[in-house]
Amino acid sequence: MNKVKILRPDDWHLHLRDGETMKAVLPATARAYGRAMVMPNLTPPITSVKQAVEYRKKIVESIPDKNNFTPLMTCYLTDSTSPHELVKGFMDQVFIAAKLYPAGATTNSENGVTSIKNIYSVLEKMEIHGIPLSIHGEVTNPEVDIFDREKVFIEQVLIPIRKKFPELKIVFEHLSSKEGVDYVLEKDGPTFSTITPHHMLLTRNDLFKGGLRMFNYCLPVVKKETDRKAIVDAATSGDDHFFFGSDSAPHFEKNKLKDKAAGGIFNAPNSIEYVTQIFAENNKIDQLEKFTSLNGASFYGFAPSEESLILIKKEKPIEKDLSIMQGKDNIRSFKPDVPLYWEIAGSNYNNRFEKNEIEDAR
Ligand code: NCD
Ligand code: ZN
Repeated sequence: MNKVKILRPDDWHLHLRDGETMKAVLPATARAYGRAMVMPNLTPPITSVKQAVEYRKKIVESIPDKNNFTPLMTCYLTDSTSPHELVKGFMDQVFIAAKLYPAGATTNSENGVTSIKNIYSVLEKMEIHGIPLSIHGEVTNPEVDIFDREKVFIEQVLIPIRKKFPELKIVFEHLSSKEGVDYVLEKDGPTFSTITPHHMLLTRNDLFKGGLRMFNYCLPVVKKETDRKAIVDAATSGDDHFFFGSDSAPHFEKNKLKDKAAGGIFNAPNSIEYVTQIFAENNKIDQLEKFTSLNGASFYGFAPSEESLILIKKEKPIEKDLSIMQGKDNIRSFKPDVPLYWEIAGSNYNNRFEKNEIEDAR
């Protein structure tokens, strides 16, 4: 199978940043994805409806011409989030979800939640109103081994939240461990999850192969082969509890190459291509559309896209450097050691292909 047609995919976990960086990276997402859940970890974070509306406006104004990409906004939870503000934003269809960053867990999480108990009154309202809680699922206790922080989060935070709020809709973001996959598979309440291309491709060996590899460093940090395999099996299974969220997280090269390098992988320029390749290599291309275009939309209560995307497999690997310059600064694109053979051949939303060619791909 060297060609596939899918409904236009959505990205259910994306960092766009702000200002010139946002303008520089947005086209890489809009070229492929119809909608994206935009993460709120700006400085300062997006905590109010007003901020979210302004941020959304700036994104919409930067969308390339003739592209109907839709940004979906999230609310950054803090110890002092007002349940009223969040519910108002959700009712007005500004906030689609609220994001829990344990304070100190990742980039721009300093204002995050210091103890889950501090937001119990918010979670109570979220459960009542059906507002999804998007979770960065890692404990921040420095004594816990960094490779165990997702597993320990499940035990110490996720299971207690689930017990206290049995109907709360949860998205366990960027699954990185077999324990995370197994927890979602238990289906102990409405816990769904996003999966990134890099957690399907990399293991911790890729952090050290031939030297320290900062561009493979993200949070949650990539783990062992057994974890990677469990994640690929989950994504390609077709189970509607798993859907695509790139966690594309642009950082300037200079901030990736310094001591205390920033965590985050910028994969927007080739994320759908790598995901397609993984499904093809696992003989699961028939499950691709569920993962990229159907399961997430269904969870968040959106209709699937009416547009389509065609991808084809080339004979030779695609070597093009997809990094993006912003002024004098380079934002290096995801480049795992695995060669990429798939590329977007066309879509019916930018008129690059005639309709009959789209039909041929079916
Ligand atoms: C993200 C970022 O840079 O904003 N970094 C990352 O490594 N994934 C934050 C996040 O999602 O954890
Ligand atoms: Zn993220």
